[in-house]
Amino acid sequence: MRTRILISLALLVSVLALAGCGAGGGDTVKIAILAPLSGDVKTFGESTRDAALLAIDEWNADGGVLGKQIEVIIEDSQCQPEPAVSAANKVIDQDGVKFIIGEVCSAASIPISEIVGPKGVLQITPTSTNPTVTLNEDGSTKATVFRACFIDPFQGAVAAKFAIGNLGAKTAAVLLDQGNDYVRGLAEVFISEFEAAGGKVLVTESYTGEDTDFSAILTKVKDANPDVLYLPDYYSTVNLIAGQAQEKGITATLLGGDGWDSADLDRSVVEGGYFTNHFSAGDTRPIVQDFVSKYEAEYGAAPDALAALAYDAANILLQSMKAADSTTDVEKVAAAMETGTFPVVSGDVSYDQFHNPVKAAVILGVQGGEIVYVDTVAP
Ligand code: PHE
Repeated sequence: MRTRILISLALLVSVLALAGCGAGGGDTVKIAILAPLSGDVKTFGESTRDAALLAIDEWNADGGVLGKQIEVIIEDSQCQPEPAVSAANKVIDQDGVKFIIGEVCSAASIPISEIVGPKGVLQITPTSTNPTVTLNEDGSTKATVFRACFIDPFQGAVAAKFAIGNLGAKTAAVLLDQGNDYVRGLAEVFISEFEAAGGKVLVTESYTGEDTDFSAILTKVKDANPDVLYLPDYYSTVNLIAGQAQEKGITATLLGGDGWDSADLDRSVVEGGYFTNHFSAGDTRPIVQDFVSKYEAEYGAAPDALAALAYDAANILLQSMKAADSTTDVEKVAAAMETGTFPVVSGDVSYDQFHNPVKAAVILGVQGGEIVYVDTVAP
């Protein structure tokens, strides 16, 4: 309901702009939000959209950015490469957008990141953690691509060290979707870090995004009887695999990554498990609590990490336009982003040479059907 009101406000702004009566001299700044709003991971897109709109609405209520109202264009890019590329081309070529917030999923952000440079567009993904989102094949940095989150080499290392250091694990099994850049990347990091820290990975098995029956690979896990089972996939797939693992009587402690973060994670099948994440709504810092109460007032639920990072991505982008004194010059805005420090909800963001913020991770646990804060791990 509230979401609808926000969207209609954004639409109203665009209608006013078209009619030539937008605030501050007529024209608006267009920002696209590309996120999965249907399908298996739609809670990711809903949180992202809602929080980015909350931030943009606050800027608009405050007079906009550099006197211009912000017009939002939202597309359902489905967490998949092809729909993501179509959505990006549509907002760039048809709507004339120069600034994109999105996508959520690495597998969708990577192909978008390959087209924005040549088209003179800036992309900031709130949540895509795969390193290659901001890197060219030769290892150089994509000039106009940024993110608001840490990357998977850090996230996977945090999980492996937690398994060994805090859980006392000696052995692990890892199940992964080879075709998903995020899942594969996180699994690879976990395996190498777990073994580097003295652990042994007894089972590594792959499945595809279409699979729904995991009994063959789970039998191998059951036979190997590892201390931990790492499931670095999104919540919808984790619900299926963890449910079947429970039926099989697998007792390994389940571990995962930020992809578990959803109100639709089935807590009954991941009970006792842990996952790495970007944000905890229980963080007592004033900037966090201020955001949590505003988000709750608007949407009636606590924000998840996707919401926090989308709110941050919108603020980083708008603060960069302000610092660059331009809402149109993509190079200037990128330069301001590269050099600035942004005090946002998930931490003080400043960029390294690869356009990655250096930030702490949190570890959350599933205990008694609740998600509880366990630890914060600095880089
Ligand atoms: N990190 C995931 C990816 O790169 C997306 C994600 C972030 C999902 C945060 C949930 C929470 O694909």
